[in-house]
Amino acid sequence: MSDQNSKISRRELLKAAGIAGVGLTTSHLIDAHAAQRNPSKNATMIGVKFEPRDVVRLGIIGVGLRGTDVLGEFLAIDKVVVNAVCDVVKDKCLRAAQLIEKAGQKTPGIYADGERDFERLVARDDLDFVYIATPWEWHVPQVLAALKNGKHVGTEVPAAYTLEDCWNIVNASEAARRHCLIMENCCYDHSETTVLNMVRAGLLGDLVHGECAYNHDLREILFEDKDEGLWRRRHHTLRDSNLYPTHGLGPMAMYMDINRGDRFDHIVSMSSTHLGLETYRKEHVPSIDPKWKEVYKTGDYNTSIIKTARGRTIMLQHNVSTPRPYDRINLIQGTKGIFRDYPPRIFIEGQEGGHTWTTLDKFKEQYESSLWKKQGEMARKLGGHGGMDYLMCYRLVQCLREGLEPDIDVYDAAAWSVPGPLSQLSVARGSMAVKFPDFTSGHWERRGKING
Ligand SMILES: NC(=O)c1ccc[n+]([C@@H]2O[C@H](COP(=O)([O-])OP(=O)(O)OC[C@H]3O[C@@H](n4cnc5c(N)ncnc54)[C@H](O)[C@@H]3O)[C@@H](O)[C@H]2O)c1
Repeated sequence: MSDQNSKISRRELLKAAGIAGVGLTTSHLIDAHAAQRNPSKNATMIGVKFEPRDVVRLGIIGVGLRGTDVLGEFLAIDKVVVNAVCDVVKDKCLRAAQLIEKAGQKTPGIYADGERDFERLVARDDLDFVYIATPWEWHVPQVLAALKNGKHVGTEVPAAYTLEDCWNIVNASEAARRHCLIMENCCYDHSETTVLNMVRAGLLGDLVHGECAYNHDLREILFEDKDEGLWRRRHHTLRDSNLYPTHGLGPMAMYMDINRGDRFDHIVSMSSTHLGLETYRKEHVPSIDPKWKEVYKTGDYNTSIIKTARGRTIMLQHNVSTPRPYDRINLIQGTKGIFRDYPPRIFIEGQEGGHTWTTLDKFKEQYESSLWKKQGEMARKLGGHGGMDYLMCYRLVQCLREGLEPDIDVYDAAAWSVPGPLSQLSVARGSMAVKFPDFTSGHWERRGKING
């Protein structure tokens, strides 16, 4: 690698991360550190606890499909009140208000007066935490508004999809001294929390490699004239990258102590051709539909490899546009064994039966997380994504009430989301390696681990 080529300017880098089709260079490694922090000397949010409180007062921005589901999870938790809801569609706010009243709570404040009415919601003085479940393009403006108004905030996934916005949320959280979380529910799923405990106990030995993905056939949803069909397909016309990296990568980051002893160092990425949405459109969309004007850019398969500072590798994949069963892969390999999900199976060196997979059954009792042991019945009853949605909300409320540090913070939100723009840059540059920024500013080396 030539030094000169690796020192690409911040402006150039952001430009490249924001557009597709940039020309190839001869450099082997692009340095995203060049687009690092602003000059502010904000103190880190690592180690900062929530202030304890008896009751958690919530505001919700976006009560479409996801926001309404998560509202239901929060309403099932003791000592949570939802004081305000916002959506550009008033009927969705009224539906949410009905659910809140049905749960025995006061009618919430309703904010449905246009795209920026969330600014009035975040200015209320009776909210401890704002949860955001809007289209991707709104996450960062809403996060920044909440932080500026002194609220802790949690956004749906991905938190941001440009490198600059990943830094913007880090800088804003540090400046406001308020937490900004990514609401990554897959970190609370049964397999992921059980495997995290097994990793912590050393059952798999020292970790060397992981594989993870969001492989989910969304074609029907993407072409609907409602809900995600109104905004999500558009992103396939804008970028060739991993559009949705966090469902697989969040749990992988927890296994590998990312930002807590290790960190993502660099990424290489490659996209396949795109035929999936075009084929679906041909078969399902009438030729007079305006959707025929759309030109898709996102490769059906985006496959990236990330190398960590401690020398581990992670294969990260995204595919939402071809027929296939759901799969987050969730594979973790150590020096003593390997786990692979979908379906869950394990191999530990020295086990009976030679080199074949075995079930997780005999490990479940010992390694199931305390969250699932204590709250699993309620989680399964509510059923949001098999129970993980309830456990994510339950754990957040526990941290807010007991004055704990959140499990997932703004550095995780940025590090798990940034493979979006970095994969875009790598794909545009013929799969060149791109360095990750260190959003923790060096704190990753000194920080403690998360327990399952
Ligand atoms: N974690 C998960 O498992 C999971 C599952 C589904 C969706 N999501 C995420 O949740 C988010 C929402 O997805 P969805 O499926 O609910 O989509 P949706 O289209 O059903 O809901 C989005 C809602 O936001 C509203 N909205 C749009 N602009 C707004 C604005 N400026 N202010 C207030 N409201 C606004 C829309 O009217 C709509 O009701 C996305 O980020 C998506 O990636 C996460």
